[in-house]
Amino acid sequence: MHLTKIRLFDFRNFREAEVEFSGGLNVLYGDNGQGKTNLLEAIHFLCNLRPVRTTREQDVIAWDKTKAYLKGVFDTSSGPVDRELLLVAGDRKKVRECGVERHRLSELYWQIHAVFFSPDDLSLVKGRPSERRRFLDLIIARLKPQYGRYLSEYNRALFHRNRLLKDLKKNRTLITALDAWDEQLSSLGTVILKTRAAFTEKLFPLVRKYYLYFSREEREIEIKYAGSIVSTGTSPESIHEAFLAALRKSLPQDLASGYTRVGPHRDDLQFLLGGRDLRYFGSQGEQRTLSLSLKFAERRVFFETTGVYPILLLDDAMSELDANRRRWILEGEEPCQVFVTTVDLSAIPEDILKKSRVYRVRAGSVG
Ligand SMILES: Nc1ncnc2c1ncn2[C@@H]1O[C@H](COP(=O)(O)OP(=O)(O)OP(=O)(O)O)[C@@H](O)[C@H]1O
Ligand SMILES: [Mg+2]
Repeated sequence: MHLTKIRLFDFRNFREAEVEFSGGLNVLYGDNGQGKTNLLEAIHFLCNLRPVRTTREQDVIAWDKTKAYLKGVFDTSSGPVDRELLLVAGDRKKVRECGVERHRLSELYWQIHAVFFSPDDLSLVKGRPSERRRFLDLIIARLKPQYGRYLSEYNRALFHRNRLLKDLKKNRTLITALDAWDEQLSSLGTVILKTRAAFTEKLFPLVRKYYLYFSREEREIEIKYAGSIVSTGTSPESIHEAFLAALRKSLPQDLASGYTRVGPHRDDLQFLLGGRDLRYFGSQGEQRTLSLSLKFAERRVFFETTGVYPILLLDDAMSELDANRRRWILEGEEPCQVFVTTVDLSAIPEDILKKSRVYRVRAGSVG
């Protein structure tokens, strides 16, 4: 699967543009502030139907306009698929595929997916636990839509339990309602923990593999799922039991803080190199290599599950990496479409540049 052509109208700083791409490596270069990241964002938006740099979809509409439009033509195993996206200020986004308006994600060609890497992804390593949970949850939900539904039900139960904890401060008789929420939370939480465990079992070895490949290190990276529920067994029954026990144990603190302090909404990932936490002790380059490895592992997991490589969007991935790492990242043996942005063409090895298509991005136009 790859993107053969894109059209943009009034998307960020692009007034009107049409570009054809290669199915291999595409290099976008240009000075700061010209639209390189915007172009990657447009590709990501078309593929994943979500913007990357903002949570407000309408931010991508050009400032002085009220509409933005994107169209992509993808080459897929079932032939060309064209997808259009229309954003109108104050309205819901509209998605059309092969000329027909689609209202649900399940109606769309599901193999179209992109993995976006940007320097901000350093926060996957250095940022708060919620960033790492979000990384896991988004990929799992993409591959298993029912996981997303469980997650929102869990969050709803969590919201109610937390509200009850706060109300209990004023009215102790409400305590009888707690059991029902504990039961709901632990049942839904068990499904979430089981699904995350099955997924991380696939993901972690891949992250280790890519880290080793990019760094050519002797030392392997160690990854742990730092869970707040410790179960002796892996069966749903034993996790459920452990969950209920943990809720009971933390009740006094939960009551004091008005917040549920155990459960998958508190869990984290830990990355150790030579036994030390990379979050605190890693160098900038090591942390960046790890965040790249997480994204490459995401791409590979997607391939192993669906049989199709997602499009890889590498924004400014070359900076802070030594020459070897740059080469290994771009050389990748996997046959897939890659977009890479850079302000400096000399950051890309000569022989790799020869095999790629190079585009100059200047003030919202691509040449
Ligand atoms: N909604 C919008 N409408 C119009 N212009 C926008 C909008 N959002 C962002 N821009 C502008 O688009 C320009 C290009 O941004 P972009 O992030 O794509 O640059 P870049 O080429 O990636 O630069 P850098 O090398 O610094 O990362 C910026 O100057 C920004 O102000
Ligand atoms: Mg940029």
